Amino acid sequence: MSSRYAIVLAAGKGTRMKSTRCKVLHEVCGKSMIQHIVDRLHALGIHEIILVVGHGAEQVEKQIGASVRYAYQQEQLGTAHAVLMAADLLHNKQGTTIVLSGDTPLVREKTLVQLLEQHETQQAAATVLTARVDDPVGYGRLIRDAKGFVKRIVEHKDATAEERQVCEINTGMYCFDNQKLFQALSRVKNDNAQKEYYLPDVLSVLKEQNERIAAYMTDDAAEGGGVNDRIQLAAAERVLRMRINEHHMQNGVTIIDPATTYIDVDVSIGPDTVLHPGTYLRGKTIIGPACVIGPNADLSDCVVGGKVELRYSNACNSTIRDGATVGPYAYIRPGSDVGEEAKVGDFVELKNSRLGKGAKVAHLSYIGDSDIGEHVNVGCGTITVNYDGVRKHKTIVGDHAFIGCNANLIAPVTIGEGAYVAAGSTITDDVPNDALAIARERQSIKEQYAKRLMATRT
Ligand code: UD1
Ligand code: CA
Repeated sequence: MSSRYAIVLAAGKGTRMKSTRCKVLHEVCGKSMIQHIVDRLHALGIHEIILVVGHGAEQVEKQIGASVRYAYQQEQLGTAHAVLMAADLLHNKQGTTIVLSGDTPLVREKTLVQLLEQHETQQAAATVLTARVDDPVGYGRLIRDAKGFVKRIVEHKDATAEERQVCEINTGMYCFDNQKLFQALSRVKNDNAQKEYYLPDVLSVLKEQNERIAAYMTDDAAEGGGVNDRIQLAAAERVLRMRINEHHMQNGVTIIDPATTYIDVDVSIGPDTVLHPGTYLRGKTIIGPACVIGPNADLSDCVVGGKVELRYSNACNSTIRDGATVGPYAYIRPGSDVGEEAKVGDFVELKNSRLGKGAKVAHLSYIGDSDIGEHVNVGCGTITVNYDGVRKHKTIVGDHAFIGCNANLIAPVTIGEGAYVAAGSTITDDVPNDALAIARERQSIKEQYAKRLMATRT
């Protein structure tokens, strides 16, 4: 296998997106388009990856980091000009260069492998990845001669009415013999409708030099879908979402309604888990086996064990352990850890707090910056008062403690193991193990009060 290099074009502004963010940073299934492409190239084992950046270069570099090298294109004079910007880093190297656009996130790894392999076995100077689509408007068309050999690519804007009938499009992905690519690039002209230097014209230049140019057609037309506007962005999201959902279903996950289940690319899910409609699994969320998630669940970067049930709830950057139940209408904020078989019930908010094994916070509570032990029962309406207006303070509740309804636990405070807090108490001092704390007014009775009140009526 010869050396392989990659150039990814990502300098364009993406005018048609009408966005302050540069196009390639827009996300599809939770990951920016450019990150999708870079991840795929890494998976292919290509170590020398060059991103051509211009608009939003700083943001792109910040996101992608040092796993690739960068070439700068100050003025966007076209895709051929963009590739030329990588010349200093690559031009005299021997091997194959794969060129991709930052706006085609649907291409599969296996298609790129086949493109590279065909290119290298045929010893072509250039191989373009094409697709046959129903609606080729806007794409470059592949023009073949009578024998079917590739002649050239013509851009939509430059094409004749007859050429526009062609449904085989240029996906904007190519393999080149690296040295031949850079030699040919300097001969590309900009005498076309857009006054741009077109990368597809490299094929014509090579053809004139009697080099072998070839095409590899993918049978999945969706892979060629470029994202130029928000409508194509949504279309790409739909395609990728279905692929992700099908992958999980093939691995034993039940998805009641794939059209309304939104799973980011890097999520993993155990078998026999059931996902109900309106479920969003984001970031690097990991779900164990035999869980019931949703309807209407929104989890970001969470680690969920097995047999967890979570309905109508939201959780972020937290751990939910085996057999726990969450919801309906719970809000689990970052840094929380819900123990095995613990329960977070309706209208409960948890923030940066641990619930021990079997602990229950069943209804209407706020638990913040707290460490709640095993098998603790937190009564309805309990509030940890963790904020004094300047600093956050910690609440500790020992194993098997019992907090009565509507208690305020004013932090910093510790409730001992096995201790009881009477309902309606406002606890300001630590409670020893096994003690009962009552911190509320005694009830007083005013006999016949109502009658006296009525007598005052005029
Ligand atoms: C391009 C192809 C077209 C193909 C289509 C597939 C050209 C001339 N046309 O058209 O044949 O069917 O992709 O999606 O190549 N870019 C730069 N610098 C520039 C211009 C573009 O970095 O000066 C980058 C853009 O950021 C983008 C990519 O190159 O990521 C493609 O550019 P775009 O303007 O989207 O090309 P298309 O018109 O879609
Ligand atoms: Ca494009």
